[in-house]
Amino acid sequence: MMHFLKETDFSTEQARAVFDSAAKYKRLRSTERPAVLAGQTWAMIFAKSSTRTRVSFEVGIHELGGNPLFLSKNDIQLGRGESIADTARVLSRYVHGLIVRTFDQTEVEELAKWGTIPVVNALTDLLHPCQIYADALTLAERWAQGGDLLDSLKGRKIVFLGDSGCNVANSWLVGANHFGMQVTVCGPKGYEPGAAIKALLAQHGWADRYEYTDDPRKAVAGADVVYTDVWVSMGKEAESADRLKAMAPYQVTSQLMKLAKPDAFFMHCLPAYAGKEVSAEVLESKQSIIFDQAENRLHAQKAILAALAQAAAKR
Ligand code: CP
Ligand code: NVA
Repeated sequence: MMHFLKETDFSTEQARAVFDSAAKYKRLRSTERPAVLAGQTWAMIFAKSSTRTRVSFEVGIHELGGNPLFLSKNDIQLGRGESIADTARVLSRYVHGLIVRTFDQTEVEELAKWGTIPVVNALTDLLHPCQIYADALTLAERWAQGGDLLDSLKGRKIVFLGDSGCNVANSWLVGANHFGMQVTVCGPKGYEPGAAIKALLAQHGWADRYEYTDDPRKAVAGADVVYTDVWVSMGKEAESADRLKAMAPYQVTSQLMKLAKPDAFFMHCLPAYAGKEVSAEVLESKQSIIFDQAENRLHAQKAILAALAQAAAKR
């Protein structure tokens, strides 16, 4: 069974096909809606808040002819301690796929192990792969100029600033390597990429294929993309005061953007906190492509779901 728990669950060629079909879904959204999920129900188990991921998946499943079934973790018995193994085996008897937002990456892996249906990682503490595919599509649309979307990413430099140990930073470490990009992560000491992401990179032979620095000016030099995320991710609220203090020197400002390439883009997965990880000026600047990123969650995820459903149908 094919799942999407991390960026590399799609091979390079499968990723290329996902980008191409996402672009096609986007182009034809108002005229053509291939019903690749006709007759299917996909359950969405969410243990954390969500605006973009929840809405784009619900709308996307509907547009593909399927039925989205939103299940807040605490509304189902999983929230009262029913095992992941039993939840996966029961839901597999009813629905055709699971979309899961939770804390520990092992939870999505366990659901995939015990269930008999595709599982999509809609954000864990470790990774946010749907975000990175949508973001990469957003960049490729600008760089490909009619050529191959995936190939247009090759050699480009993305710099992640701020909480360099968070899920989105981790996912860029994996995604950038998978797509042939250069990646630098930059944040205060004590919040560097952690052991779990280093182990995943090492599994792919990418242990040394990224740069970490605590110097933001050095990091952004020559950047094609400057990316940031919240300083306090969901589940880290108890550490708020320490994090805000440690990360304050890493705010993305207009002065910092001037050190990147002149045509560099600013990106943020959102939600954003203006005046914290990024200045209001940068968020609202011409270089900012944050709402195109948000839109592309819909198109990229439709392509991801279609690829998983097609693979499941062939089994
Ligand atoms: N970027 C993102 O995943 O946003 P939500 O938390 O609103 O889903
Ligand atoms: N790093 C953030 C991303 C939100 C989409 C979090 O996990 O809260």
